[in-house]
Amino acid sequence: YVNDVNQFTIPTNRRYFMAKWLENAIFYEIYPQSFNDTNGDGIGDFQGIIEKLDYIKKTGFNAIWMNPCFDSPFGDAGYDVRDYKKAAARYGTNDDLKRLFDECHKRGMHILLDLVPGHTSVEHEWFKKSMLPESNEYTDRYIWTSNIWEQPEGLNCIRGISDRDGSAAVNFFSSQPALNYGYAEPKYAYQQKPTDPGPMATRAAIKDVMKFWLDMGCDGFRVDMAGSLVKCDPEYKETIKLWQDITGYLKSEYPEAAMVSEWGEPQYSLQGGFDMDFLLHFGPEGYNSMFRSAEPFFSKRGKGTPAIFAEQYNGYHEKATTGGGLICIPSGNHDMDRLARGRDEDELKCCFAFLLTMPGAPFVYYGDEIGMNFVEGLVSVEGGYNRTGSRSPMQWDSTANDGFSTADKSQLYIKQDDAPDRPTVEKQMLDEKSLYNEIKKLIKLRNENSALHNLSAFEFVSSDGYPLVYKRSSDKQTVYVFINPSDKVVTVNADYAKGGKAIYTLGENGSVKADTVTVPASGAIFVEV
Ligand code: NOJ
Ligand code: CA
Repeated sequence: YVNDVNQFTIPTNRRYFMAKWLENAIFYEIYPQSFNDTNGDGIGDFQGIIEKLDYIKKTGFNAIWMNPCFDSPFGDAGYDVRDYKKAAARYGTNDDLKRLFDECHKRGMHILLDLVPGHTSVEHEWFKKSMLPESNEYTDRYIWTSNIWEQPEGLNCIRGISDRDGSAAVNFFSSQPALNYGYAEPKYAYQQKPTDPGPMATRAAIKDVMKFWLDMGCDGFRVDMAGSLVKCDPEYKETIKLWQDITGYLKSEYPEAAMVSEWGEPQYSLQGGFDMDFLLHFGPEGYNSMFRSAEPFFSKRGKGTPAIFAEQYNGYHEKATTGGGLICIPSGNHDMDRLARGRDEDELKCCFAFLLTMPGAPFVYYGDEIGMNFVEGLVSVEGGYNRTGSRSPMQWDSTANDGFSTADKSQLYIKQDDAPDRPTVEKQMLDEKSLYNEIKKLIKLRNENSALHNLSAFEFVSSDGYPLVYKRSSDKQTVYVFINPSDKVVTVNADYAKGGKAIYTLGENGSVKADTVTVPASGAIFVEV
């Protein structure tokens, strides 16, 4: 991985394009099937989300990203869309979904849907028509090679499934044929340019899907595998152009809409016009080195280093934020291990002291706010495989199925955590010292201190070993953040923090002296100067 910062040229007018609400957006990711079931069928639904909006808001979140909720055979939990314009019946109707948008807005909240532009389900009408041997409107909607014996370059394929003589490229699982946005540099007869009629029609169809939901009231999209659309495009030149076209269209028609990419390389995605990109568990290793590697920085074992992360982050942070883009560091998501797997509550609090003081919009995966654990030993559900344990039903209270559903236990979408000491929202709310209450406090602190806002300035002060120190500042305020995930208290020389006052301490006995700052074990201290 080469971090080529020179390629990073974000249009200087970007800030103008970014929706104002993103400046203080704090996101909560909802996996709809596992959040709250209101009709007793064992699967979460839109009404269930509506009924928990007050909870989400009270915790401090003002924005939501909801995973795919569209009609689907659910071979990949809904990332295999059968009808882009129809809500999956198990969650409710399009009207119910509209009601969810409206209920969010009533509370001053925003909601992003999950757009899956790279592939559909094999059951999508487009694909069925594309499989026909006779040429029709959908013949070039997907990537088909010239004959059944030819493999698509750079991709797996499905073949022998229809009378059309060709192999259809797949994007992810075999049930997810790749939509055709062209190849960056076509080499073979079947490969089309991104601007050829087939790829342009695909592009128009996706814009039309976006328009459909934006007109109904959604506030934008998280975009699945956003970097994958144009094939064999190693430097993303054509993919960036494609996204500039789509986001340009979007911003001209819906200036308040927001777009976050699942890409993991903001130096590319933000150029494409995305407002935000995630740091992820795949791609550059910075994220994993903090949270998910064998010796992550955020662990009491104290063997990790933030240096790898810092180097990578430095590579794109400054240009991203001056351009008005946000680099978002998620607590987890439906594809990764739960943050709580192998961490105790102190360690989790320490993670959140970091996640909620970094620039960019924070994204918290449902259940992470109470430290929900990975459920071990599950058989795969709907294409979840090793991800299934991170998708178990939310644990609300002490009623049946922890308040998630009134269905019989055996009917739940995924088996729930049954550890006797598992957290629930109810228990965590009552315990003043809980992770939940710490997170609530941290969000409040973030909101009240302009230095900690999404777009406020950022700079590493010390990023090798423990503690990690960084400076956040706005035109009104400067705050130094000290984070020490190790199990030993550390005292560092910090003349820059002289005369400052601690506005937050996590752990026992943190202090600010004349020239030194003491950071508690598995703790943090934020010093305003
Ligand atoms: C990324 C999504 O987050 C994941 O859940 C899905 O399986 C793949 N993309 C394919 O759409
Ligand atoms: Ca239900």
